[in-house]
Amino acid sequence: MHAFAEPAPRALPFPAIQQLAAADMAAVDALIRRRLASDVVLVNQVAEYIVGAGGKRLRPMLTVLAARAAGYRGEAHHQLAAVVEFIHTATLLHDDVVDESELRRGRATANAAFGNAASVLVGDFLYSRAFQLMVELDSMTIQKVLADTTNRIAEGEVLQLLHVRNPDTDEAAYLRVIERKTAVLFAAATRLGGHLAGIGEAGEQALADYGLALGYAFQIADDVLDYAGDAAALGKNLGDDLAEGKATLPLIHAMAHSAPAVQARLKTIVAEGDASAFGEVLAAIEACGSLEYSREAALRHAGAAIAALEALPDSEARAALAGLAEYAVRRRY
Ligand code: IPE
Ligand code: IPE
Ligand code: MG
Ligand code: MG
Repeated sequence: MHAFAEPAPRALPFPAIQQLAAADMAAVDALIRRRLASDVVLVNQVAEYIVGAGGKRLRPMLTVLAARAAGYRGEAHHQLAAVVEFIHTATLLHDDVVDESELRRGRATANAAFGNAASVLVGDFLYSRAFQLMVELDSMTIQKVLADTTNRIAEGEVLQLLHVRNPDTDEAAYLRVIERKTAVLFAAATRLGGHLAGIGEAGEQALADYGLALGYAFQIADDVLDYAGDAAALGKNLGDDLAEGKATLPLIHAMAHSAPAVQARLKTIVAEGDASAFGEVLAAIEACGSLEYSREAALRHAGAAIAALEALPDSEARAALAGLAEYAVRRRY
């Protein structure tokens, strides 16, 4: 036993993280662009449209930083990071069709611009291109982790579908959904960075624990932003979750802890997927302290993510991973 608590791993501010990862991320971006190509014009158009809009590239950044934190010196982490971003982008193409969303990365969603059919099919293209790139890495572990992860993401989206317009969705059900639809990809991104470096099972597990907790924090923060963010900064419309009849943590908390009449009203709104009630719902969740409750839950998961990093030796890359956990819950977009 130590007489004093271990100091938490030090965390870099976001600009320093970006600077540290800049060379790696430029290489990842170049690889993404090069490997996006298809001789089917519509594939290129739609893929370029969504990939060219940018996005935060958070998951590939996690892969390269995890690899660095594990002492990796090679080049294969760029391709692994591109695989992770392709899988993520494929899920977004499908997710925006399912959610009938209209704004993504600051522009019209691919489904709004090209239609549902093109979005679904190019999503399939990106999934399968991800698997082509993955196979080139020639690692059965990488293939197994990413095959399992992709399968779990699909389960998560289907599980969420089962809860649409269900006013009895509780926090446990919500957490089961976000683990699958979001957190497992974060966990794979970080675990496999460590795996490439040959860090060993304990180090891989620590990185996976970090990624999973970060994924929870990230999705909860995202669900708070859907109520309390700024659409222009976020590049997505607010109120999408309510419009879809999706009860996320702020609303779940308010449905459980508001005055009985308010609870009943919120449940009716969820059951009806009544997007026009956004202002009323926002007022109810604010009055109930549900945004604060959710922000605190996100902070707790971010804290768990940072704590998991204690198993790794201190390095600039580890400090960057810790900083990303803080960023995930503080971000405005
Ligand atoms: C969006 O992820 C989907 C969620 C898990 C909330 P990001 O917010 O990372 O999307 P981009 O890649 O930056 O656009
Ligand atoms: C994000 O789902 C998870 C996946 C895309 C698999 P959401 O529906 O919550 O994310 P946004 O709000 O559309 O980005
Ligand atoms: Mg969505
Ligand atoms: Mg959302």
